[in-house]
Amino acid sequence: MANIKYFLGENIPLEMHKVRIVQRLDLVPIERRLEAITEAGNNTFLLFNKDIYLDMLTDSGVNAMSDHQLASMMTVDDSYAGSATFTRLEEKLVEIFGKKYFLPAHQGRACENLLAQYYVSEGQVVPMNYHFTTTKAHVMVNGGKVLELYKDEALSPVSDDPFKGEMDIAALEEVIAKEGVDNIAFVRMEAGTNLIGGQPVSLENFGKVSEVCRKHGIPYVLDASLLADNLHFIKVREEACKDMSIPEITKILSDQADVVYFSARKLGHVRGGGIITNDENVYKGILEMLPLYEGFSTYGGMSVREMEAMVVGLDETMDEEMINQGPIFIEYMVNELVKLGIPVITPPGGLGVHLDAMAFLDHVPQEQYRAGALGAALYLTSGVRGMERGTVSEERLEDGSDFLAPVELLRLALPRRVFTLSQVKYTIDRIAWLYENRKLIGGLEFYEEPKILRFFFGKLKPTSDWQQKLMAKFRADFGESL
Ligand code: F0G
Repeated sequence: MANIKYFLGENIPLEMHKVRIVQRLDLVPIERRLEAITEAGNNTFLLFNKDIYLDMLTDSGVNAMSDHQLASMMTVDDSYAGSATFTRLEEKLVEIFGKKYFLPAHQGRACENLLAQYYVSEGQVVPMNYHFTTTKAHVMVNGGKVLELYKDEALSPVSDDPFKGEMDIAALEEVIAKEGVDNIAFVRMEAGTNLIGGQPVSLENFGKVSEVCRKHGIPYVLDASLLADNLHFIKVREEACKDMSIPEITKILSDQADVVYFSARKLGHVRGGGIITNDENVYKGILEMLPLYEGFSTYGGMSVREMEAMVVGLDETMDEEMINQGPIFIEYMVNELVKLGIPVITPPGGLGVHLDAMAFLDHVPQEQYRAGALGAALYLTSGVRGMERGTVSEERLEDGSDFLAPVELLRLALPRRVFTLSQVKYTIDRIAWLYENRKLIGGLEFYEEPKILRFFFGKLKPTSDWQQKLMAKFRADFGESL
């Protein structure tokens, strides 16, 4: 985003790219949207693209690629073993992260599977700044337990703390003293934290976590899936880093960690992932498992086209002008929602805009899934698909009762360079209407509930006929409008 001052005073983000390939979209009428969300069991994961206008479910695998990335896909070296494309990727990762071993995997959670199998044994704990759904599930299936050591501010929806994703260092020292070094499988930092609103971590805090881990000889694992946004925030929000380059910051973060892993569906704007380390034992230990779960060590489940485009995508990620587009669009949308008095997580983070469903739907019991209900209501109102990040995304407690999530968020991801400002403005307009009519929104209850990661395939139904009422109000207010 260029530093542009406007004559007319409106502060709007200005893109430093142009769009040369477009995809046709449809906005189906609200009557069809009601059918679609009902067929999907009020779970936005189960909607189909044909019924969706703006897909803000995730940024995973759907960021816009560059012309250079697409061009690179035409010049790949395809082979099961020993392809030159893999060597180019390995060399690029060594250049950026400065670690010598690379284990390719088909996506981020595949890295988590390998790392959890390698490190975690029954009864061990894994301290982290915040969990991610797939990370926690992998730790748990290997008999481990996740301990979240976030600071108090992390869960305050309204805040001006620039780095809400940081780890509480005193809490980490306490856990080490209580559990003992041998009972800690590894310490994981997520850069930045997905489930609490894409909130970043400062370079200073990463450094402190690393110091504590080194002091005690505990492996420190960095999840770099959302690193691009976090790099931007370190550069613009951390005084000590404002003159550092993106490659410099990246290198420091990598040097601090024993293992870096990433979902290339996010980092590098392709589809894939991998683990990087300097530790020969980790490399050899995981290498043994690789053919079983991912494929040979020179593709790890990825197509060579994706790997070749990842080389270019990672290089482009080192460019501040490229990685700031997401955060700046998100900041614009959050600031507009704040002006309208709509509850939204602040300060603006990475990944997307996070509506605070806890406050938005404070009249709906939390047991009736506020964030899930808001997701269904927003789709109905706008054709915009968001993602529930609240109680539905949690696992039940051992006694079968719901674990009520500390935050109920409806995430509206802004995949990089995909949506225009007018589409963002349309979304704000519909959220504003929904907020005005929020008392019409009711709750949801499960009628089909998988045991693990229920948010992917679970189905819910409304607790009353609130969706029909919301649709009737929409028609009354908007007439024939889509
Ligand atoms: N770590 C973080 C921080 C993530 O955000 C994700 C994925 C993963 C690991 C797993 O990577 O999807 O390639 O297997 N987040 C996606 C999302 C699913 O929509 O936020 P994956």
